[in-house]
Amino acid sequence: MKQPLTPPKWKAFKAQGTKIAMLTAYDYPSARLAEEAGIDAILVGDSLGNVVLGYDTTVPVTLDDMIYHTRAVVRGAPGTMIVTDMPFATYRLGPEAALRNAARLLQEGGAHAVKMEGGADIADEVHRLVSAGIPVLGHLGLTPQSVLQIGGYKVQGKDKEEAQKLIADAKALEQAGAFGVVLELVTEPVAAAVTKAIGVPTIGIGAGRGCDGQVLVYHDMIRYGSGIRDKRFVKTYADVGETIRSAIAGYVNDVKNASFPEERNGFRLDDQTALQLSDSLYGGESK
Ligand code: KIV
Repeated sequence: MKQPLTPPKWKAFKAQGTKIAMLTAYDYPSARLAEEAGIDAILVGDSLGNVVLGYDTTVPVTLDDMIYHTRAVVRGAPGTMIVTDMPFATYRLGPEAALRNAARLLQEGGAHAVKMEGGADIADEVHRLVSAGIPVLGHLGLTPQSVLQIGGYKVQGKDKEEAQKLIADAKALEQAGAFGVVLELVTEPVAAAVTKAIGVPTIGIGAGRGCDGQVLVYHDMIRYGSGIRDKRFVKTYADVGETIRSAIAGYVNDVKNASFPEERNGFRLDDQTALQLSDSLYGGESK
C-alpha cells in the first residue's frame, strides 16, 4: 500500500528538483479521489470555512471543526500525507497552548503534520511543536487568518521591504524546524527568491512558477459550489458545479413530471403475494 510522505522525503524532493503536488480536501470522498489521482499531500485547510461551511473568512473555524474534517480525510486517504491547518488564534496564546492544540489534531484527527500562518513571530511556537515531534508547515505571504487586519486578499511581496521580510520570515521558519513553507499570493520573483533562500520546499498558491510545489483549493480547481469566483491563479480542471447543478435540475424535473421513478426503479412482489396483499387490503377488488 502507498505510504504517506514524510518531512525528510519533502526535503529530498526539493534537493532532486521533484515538484510537490498538494490539494486541499475536507471530507472522505474528496480525499479518496485525490489519493486515487496520485496527489502527494492533502491539506485540510481552514479554507473549509469558506468553501464548505459558508463563512466569509476562515476566522470562525474552530479546532473541533478541523479535527472532525481531518478524521474524514484520513479515512479517505490512508496512504497520503495529511497536513491540517491550525485555525485562528489556536497557536497565538504561547508555545504550550499551541502544543496542546496541535497535539489534538494529530491524536484525535489523525493528521501527520500541522500548518501555521506566520513567520518570525511564531518561531517559538513552531520550535516547541517540532521539538515535541509534530511536523510543521509554515505559511507566508497572504495569510487569510489576518485578513481582517490586512483589509483584504492582497498580493504580497510587492517591494524590496516586503521581499526582505518574506525571506527573513521563511528563514526563521526553517530555522525553527518547519519542513516547508506555503507562499500564498506572492509575486513570482519574490516567491522564487524565497525558494532559493531556504533548504525546505516552498509550496505556492498564486505565487508563480518558481516554487517547489503547488497547492490549490479543491473547490476552486473543479468549480465545486456556488459563487466561486474566477481567480487568476487558479487553473480550472473541471466544472463539477455545473455538472451537479444540471443533474439536480434534471432530477427535480423528472419528479415534477412523474418520469422518475420508473417501473425498473421499484421493487416488485411476486404475483401470488401481490394478489394476497390486494385481497387483504381491498377485499379482492383488483387495483
Ligand atoms: O486553508 C487553505 O486552504 C490554505 C491554502 C490556501 C494554502 O491555507
